[in-house]
Amino acid sequence: MTIEADVVQLARLTLEGKDADSRALLRKMLYSISRQCPELNAQARQVLTLLKTANVTRGITTSPIPVDSDSRLELVSRDNIHQLPIEPIWNPEVEAELASVVREHIQRSELEAAGVEPTRSLLFVGPPGVGKTLAARWLAREIRLPLLTLDLAAVMSSFLGRTGNNIRTVIDFAQKSPSILLLDEFDAIAKRRDDVTEIGELKRLVTVLLQSIDEWPNEGLLIAASNHPDLLDPAVWRRFDRVLRFPSPSRSEITEAIKRIIGSSNNVKDSLIQALSDLYDGESFAEVERQMNQVRKSSILNRTTLETDIIRLLVDSARNVQKQKKAMIALALIESGLSQRDVSRIIGISRDTIRKYKPGAKQVDGGDNAKGK
Ligand SMILES: Nc1ncnc2c1ncn2[C@@H]1O[C@H](COP(=O)(O)OP(=O)(O)OP(=O)(O)O)[C@@H](O)[C@H]1O
Ligand SMILES: [Mg+2]
Repeated sequence: MTIEADVVQLARLTLEGKDADSRALLRKMLYSISRQCPELNAQARQVLTLLKTANVTRGITTSPIPVDSDSRLELVSRDNIHQLPIEPIWNPEVEAELASVVREHIQRSELEAAGVEPTRSLLFVGPPGVGKTLAARWLAREIRLPLLTLDLAAVMSSFLGRTGNNIRTVIDFAQKSPSILLLDEFDAIAKRRDDVTEIGELKRLVTVLLQSIDEWPNEGLLIAASNHPDLLDPAVWRRFDRVLRFPSPSRSEITEAIKRIIGSSNNVKDSLIQALSDLYDGESFAEVERQMNQVRKSSILNRTTLETDIIRLLVDSARNVQKQKKAMIALALIESGLSQRDVSRIIGISRDTIRKYKPGAKQVDGGDNAKGK
């Protein structure tokens, strides 16, 4: 293989978090450089020695993941996060909380020297698709710890006695070496509460979990995520060092997400981005991402510009939205070059109504506005 091919392969392995494979390839490349380039021999050998001892991500990168005793399937997924699918947009309060958790971990030794513990447990609550799992991944990247994810909804579906053992095994595994353990869909445990036959086992399980929150090692983090926080016992809430509430994104956060997903190189007119923001106002980041990726895909497959597909999406969606959003979309389409007559025809809104919503137009009266809602 040429050095160029090796570099491409190395980039892929690194981004996929395959540390062991990237190190093996790096070793091979360094050996061949030390043989072929005498002037780099000493330096390459020095890096090879470092490679033997240094840890790319702190903590467990190679110890085997525990498996279910019957199915032999791995109980948790383990990722070394180097890259995220999108750079997250945090609400200011969430951002401040996350930043202070990172800081406490990076400067942990200073806190410990003063007899203070860093944050060890976090509870993330909020509706679906607003960044709870993403925040756990972001923290893993920032603190440079491996992320172990246990989907409680998936493990709870199996026989509860075995589930209890599996959860204990995962907790032991995560506590042994620095890592972030994400207990996703945490409320799945609470949902089993009504099954009387299992109450004893469930109580034991909750006790184990509560104890492990208290005893979590300083160098790691335990994160529980839930979109049904009301199902959680107040005693459970109190055990976490911090509770972070993830709100639905604001309109301006949605605009920012749209811009990041479509990228600046696509030259989409701002009026269209604003119309998309109106359309998705009130939706989750996950829904915005899904829709935007759909548009990107169709523009690639149809060999059209992204703007063309965004206009098509706006026209299709405008039929099913309330009058005010419809008028906003109509205005954006006119601004992007379509005639008022065409827009009025395709969207099914009168030209008079469009004019009323024009910036600077006299305020729309409640009657006309209310009718379309
Ligand atoms: N704050 C954010 N900034 C940018 N994109 C986001 C943000 N939050 C979520 N997304 C997008 O939505 C996707 C889903 O987010 P995530 O998995 O974090 O949701 P969640 O809150 O864990 O939802 P659920 O409760 O369904 O598990 C992410 O992969 C990301 O693309
Ligand atoms: Mg999630």
